[in-house]
Amino acid sequence: NPGKILAGELMRGVGGILMNHEGERFCNELGTRAYVVDKMFGHDQQYAKTKTWKVDTEIPTFSLVLSASAAEGAQKHVDHYLNKGLLTRIEGLDALANWMKLPVATVKAYLLEYQRDAKKGKDAWGKVTFNGVPQKDLSSEVFYAGTVTPVLHYCMGGLTIDQDGNVLNESKEIIPGLHAAGEVSGGVHGDNRLGGNSLLECTVFGTIVGKKIPIKPRNSIQSNNLQQGGGGAADKPAELRNISTDELQHHNTEDDCWVVIHGLVYDLTDFVDEHPAGPESITELAGKDGTEEFQAVHGENILEDFDPIGTFVPV
Ligand SMILES: Cc1cc2nc3c(=O)[nH]c(=O)nc-3n(C[C@H](O)[C@H](O)[C@H](O)COP(=O)(O)OP(=O)(O)OC[C@H]3O[C@@H](n4cnc5c(N)ncnc54)[C@H](O)[C@@H]3O)c2cc1C
Ligand code: HEM
Repeated sequence: NPGKILAGELMRGVGGILMNHEGERFCNELGTRAYVVDKMFGHDQQYAKTKTWKVDTEIPTFSLVLSASAAEGAQKHVDHYLNKGLLTRIEGLDALANWMKLPVATVKAYLLEYQRDAKKGKDAWGKVTFNGVPQKDLSSEVFYAGTVTPVLHYCMGGLTIDQDGNVLNESKEIIPGLHAAGEVSGGVHGDNRLGGNSLLECTVFGTIVGKKIPIKPRNSIQSNNLQQGGGGAADKPAELRNISTDELQHHNTEDDCWVVIHGLVYDLTDFVDEHPAGPESITELAGKDGTEEFQAVHGENILEDFDPIGTFVPV
């Protein structure tokens, strides 16, 4: 949903308080994402009974409220969300109640209860760590508040794989030649994924699978140019023949596309259709010196995969 952005868990970690439309807290804000979402969805009676969310039910929203000291612990995030208009800076309890569209006395009562719980070191949901608790005088506290809602963040299900990234069928047998890595696979994280572990999964299984699959070279130009007698520029520059301006200009179409880069001539005819940015950016340079255009977007190391067919001699 383009209108939403992920509210980092840090926001709850530094002391963000979650409140519902009545101003009540309803969970230990330091619980897992799945736990907090369950408590959010639990506001719906049907879900509370069945633990199943009906797709056509309106997704509930809640207030995330940070004190000034809590916000300090997540300053970069807070500034970012303020810039995007997703958090609002609010001075004093009255203005906060106004923002929440609730009576001042209601919001005050729940915040005072939170302060008492923090002093006791425990609340009704088992929260025992209280960071960034709003200061005693709520009327002079600066709050940062925003609206939050559950979103689908990661898909826990997926293809069953073994430790080598082979995809398994329903009988847990390897499907030959089919490999998977990343979110498309399921089961790696058990019932609930730990924060940060998805990218770890991508790199671990991506590496395992990548190592066992022989990857062919991306372009066919190397062998093509070798067949024509061209050698690697770096290895055997002496063997390259001279190519004049006149000869170069004859190879100026997409079906016969020679381009000069850094004084060497490349036959890119077979490569143009493989160019990730599209063929046009190369065919426009057919029969010409394309060094300037090439340099504007590419480093020279890209040319290591290409063998020149000659040395450009501009006559
Ligand atoms: C807002 C947000 C924040 C996150 N933050 C974190 C975090 O901090 N740490 C963490 O570990 N994880 C995080 N995750 C989860 C993590 O980013 C993803 O699980 C991970 O990027 C998945 O990578 P992937 O390569 O497996 O899949 P994807 O990145 O989804 O790649 C799948 C690719 O396949 C392409 N594709 C789909 N269908 C086809 C098709 N039919 N043909 C060809 N291509 C196709 C898609 O276009 C896509 O490019 C976050 C996720 C979200 C949404
Ligand atoms: C003239 C000779 C050129 C050659 C041999 C060439 C070669 C390549 C190669 C090999 C890649 C893939 C790089 C990789 O995946 O690591 C690439 C990507 C790309 N090239 Fe070129 N290129 C040429 C000219 C140009 C020009 C003139 C432009 C722009 C006007 C351009 C724009 C791009 C872009 C934007 C990508 C990245 C596309 C993506 O990330 O999907 N290239 N090129």
